[in-house]
Order: sequence, then structure tokens, then C-alpha cells
Amino acid sequence: MFVTLEGVDGAGKSTQARLLADALGPDTLLLREPGGTPAGERLRDLLKDGSIDLTPRAELMLFCAARAELVDRVIAPALEAGRHVVCDRFVDSTVAYQGGARGIDPGLVATLNAAAVGDCMPDRTILLRVDTGVAVERAEGRCESPISDRFESEGASFQDRIAAAFERIAAAEPQRVAVVDAAGGVDEVHGRIAEALGL
Ligand code: TYD
Repeated sequence: MFVTLEGVDGAGKSTQARLLADALGPDTLLLREPGGTPAGERLRDLLKDGSIDLTPRAELMLFCAARAELVDRVIAPALEAGRHVVCDRFVDSTVAYQGGARGIDPGLVATLNAAAVGDCMPDRTILLRVDTGVAVERAEGRCESPISDRFESEGASFQDRIAAAFERIAAAEPQRVAVVDAAGGVDEVHGRIAEALGL
């Protein structure tokens, strides 16, 4: 099974991705985007560096380039070998951040996403829904997420546009995307995710 976790910065995805990977068993591959390959990690560094100004289209293409590497070199081979894969962010983040929030033409986002992943789409996606205020507090509580600076510094309306775009994805693809309330304790939220996946 290929599962992705999505949500705004501070929704608690990384913690929940780890718990989910543990629950799926020791052979599960846990990944995060962007990253996971040598080129992907270099692209992550570039995207992380808020002092490097990127146009929205260039930003979109770099996220998709990192994703193409991850799919071809890591995700597709793991799925072919019968492993479970859990990925912290995937195509929906690009739709929400570069499409919904940056305002790039949704058609271009869809084309580049499709070019990056081909038919390697997640079986299920968990959208962690959290109050924007709580998310900002959680995100501010961590200091080791510098990529987010590029996006968090954009302010509250940017975060609202991301959240709204995720909701539209969930409404459009209810068979793939399960919305999970991310309020409450870590174990409580993990229980909701496990239930949504029928574990
Ligand atoms: P990261 O430090 O991993 O943050 P988080 O823990 O919130 O996932 O940085 C990833 C950042 O990159 C995050 O702010 C979302 C953004 N992003 C995009 O804008 N588009 C994408 O396609 C992906 C995968 C991430």
C-alpha cells in the first residue's frame, strides 16, 4: 500500500507518518518530500534556502523534479517489491502550495505532477485537518523546518489558501483522500488515521 500524508505546515504530518510506518510493519518505507534521493536532497537544500529567490514556476518545477527522482528510484521499486510506502507530502502539496497558494495555473500543476509521477499515485491519502491557528503554533514550536520559512513567512492568508486547496482535493477525490481531524493527542490522531485506513 502507498499512503501519503498531507496538510498545512504544523498539522503534525511527520510524527503521524512515523507512527503509521511503524504500524504498517518493519518493512515499510518512510519518506518525506522533497528529498529521499541524492538529487532530491540537493533540491531540498535549494528550496530550503529562503535567501534564494525563485519564481513560482521554477519552484514548481524543482518540487516536481525531486518527485520524479523519488518515484523512479525509490517509490516505484519499493512498491514493485511488495513493500508499503508512507510519504510525508506528495502531489497534493504541489496542488495546494504552488497551485492554490502561489496561484499557478492548475492545468500546469496537474501536467507537471503527472509528468513526475506517471501512474504511481497513492492508494490512500490522509489529509490532516487542523485549525490554522493551531498549525501556526505547532509550526512555530519546531525550529528544524527551514524549508517552511519560504512559505510560513507568506502569512495567514497564504496558509488559508493552502488549507482551502486541500479541502477541494479531498472533496473531489473522496475515495482516495480521507480527512482526519488532527486536533488532540498524538495517539488519538494516530488512532483516527489507522481507522481511516482500516488497519
Ligand atoms: P518541510 O520542512 O518538510 O515542512 P513540513 O514538515 O511542513 O512538511 O518543508 C516542506 C515545505 O515545502 C512545506 O512548507 C511545504 C512545501 N512544499 C511545497 O510547497 N510543494 C510541494 O510539492 C512539497 C512536497 C512541499
